[in-house]
Amino acid sequence: MRLDEIDLTDLDRFVGGFPDEVFTALRHEAPVWWHPPTSHTPNGTGFWVVSSHGHVTEVVSDATMFSSAGVADAEGGGTLIEDLPYGFAAGVLLNMMDDPRHQRIRRLVTPAVAPRALALLEDELRARTGAILDSVAGRGRCDFLMEVAVELPLQATAMLMGIPNEDRHDLMKWSGASLTYDDRELGQTSAAVQEASAAMAAYGAALVAAKRHCGGSDMLATVAGAAIEGDDGALEALSELELLMFFNLLVAAGSETTRNAIALGMAALIEHPEQWALLQSDGSLLPGAVEEILRWSSPTLYNRRTATADTEVAGRRIRRGDKVTLWWVSANRDEDVFNDPFLFDVRRSPNPHLAFGYRSHFCLGANLARMEIRIMLEELLARFADFSLDGPIERFRTNKHAGVKHMPVTFRRLGAGVP
Ligand code: HEM
Repeated sequence: MRLDEIDLTDLDRFVGGFPDEVFTALRHEAPVWWHPPTSHTPNGTGFWVVSSHGHVTEVVSDATMFSSAGVADAEGGGTLIEDLPYGFAAGVLLNMMDDPRHQRIRRLVTPAVAPRALALLEDELRARTGAILDSVAGRGRCDFLMEVAVELPLQATAMLMGIPNEDRHDLMKWSGASLTYDDRELGQTSAAVQEASAAMAAYGAALVAAKRHCGGSDMLATVAGAAIEGDDGALEALSELELLMFFNLLVAAGSETTRNAIALGMAALIEHPEQWALLQSDGSLLPGAVEEILRWSSPTLYNRRTATADTEVAGRRIRRGDKVTLWWVSANRDEDVFNDPFLFDVRRSPNPHLAFGYRSHFCLGANLARMEIRIMLEELLARFADFSLDGPIERFRTNKHAGVKHMPVTFRRLGAGVP
C-alpha cells in the first residue's frame, strides 16, 4: 500500500466497509500521518491522521492543546473533518465545546445516564426489545437493521428525552439525512439535508419550549430548566441554540451509533457461529461479548480536534490550527494493544477499546449503549437458534460512521425447524 494513494475523504472507498488495509499500513508506517489535500478534502485543506492506540490516547488526553471547538480566530471548527461554523455548531454542541463550559453542562446530564438511573429503565427496555423481536419472529426473515437494530436505540432515546414514541421515525429520518453523504461530498450540503435540518430545528424548538414551560425529569427537561455558571461567574440558563443543539446531538448520538453496534455485532456472530454457540452455553460471557462487539463494530470511525498551539506528536510537527483526526476504529485494531486484533473473540480480555472515545469527551451514553446491546443479545439468544445473512450488508457512503443501511437475515427460532 502506497501512502500517497490514500484518500480518506473519497467516500466511495468506505461503501464496501472500513478500509482496514489502509489503516494497518498507516499504523505500521506513519501512525501520525499528514493527509495531503486532495480533490475531496473540504476547502482543499489537509489534516493529520492519528491511527495507533497510543497516539490517539495521547492526543485526546490533552484537551487544552487539542480543542473540540477549534481555535478562537478561525471561522470554523468542530469534530468533523469539514469545518462547522464557529458559534453555531462548533463551540455550541456539547461534544464540540471545550472546558470549563463543556464540563458544567456535562455535569447536569451525567446523573440521568448513571448506572442507578439506567437500572430503572431496564425492565421497560427489555419489554420493548421483546416486542420488537416478537414482531419479526414468526416470519423467519427480516431486515435486521431496519426492523430490529434501529428500533431499540431509537425508542430508548425517545424515552430518555421525553419525546412521544410515535415521533421517533420522523426524528430518525431528519437526523439521518445530515449524517449521510449519498448525494453529496464532505463539506457540501444538499436540498434534502437542508429540508431535514429545518424540520428537525422546528421540532426541537417546539420541544425545548414545552420543556421550559412544563418542566419534567427527562434529560432535555433537566438541561432546559437548569442554570450553570457563565464566564463571569453568574448563573445563567443555557441558550436556545445550546438546547437545540443538545437535542440534535442526543437524537443523532443516541440512535445512530448503537444501532450499528447491534447490527455489526450480529453480523460478526453470523460469521463466527461458534461464538454465538459459546454465548448460548454460557451467559457469563455476555458482558465481555458486549465489549468485543463495541471494539469490533467501532460505530464512530473518527473524531477531530484542532491544535491550539504548535506542538509535536510522534516526532511530527503539528501547527496551531491544524486539524487532527483520531481514528478510534484503527486504535481498536492496533496489534500492539490487542492480540490478534482481526479475530472476533467474545472472551477477549483485557479489551481496552476506544469505541466510546477517551477522557474529557468520553461518551455520555456509554452505559446506556452497553445496556441496550446486552439486553438485545440476551433476548435474541433466548428466542433464536441461529441467524444467516440473506443478502449483502448495504452501507451508507460515509467516512464518519460504520453506517449500515440494510442487513437482510433469515433465522430459526429455538426449538423450531427451518421456517
Ligand atoms: C455504541 C454506541 C455509541 C458509540 C460507539 C458512541 C461513541 C461516542 C464517541 C466516540 C464519543 C466521543 C467523541 C469525541 O471525543 O469527540 C461520544 C460522545 C458522546 N456520546 Fe456517544 N456513542 C454511543 C452511544 C451514545 C448514546 C446512546 C448517547 C446518548 C445518550 C450518546 C451520547 C453522547 C454524547 C452526548 C457525547 C458527547 C460527550 C462530551 O462531549 O462530553 N452516545 N460517543
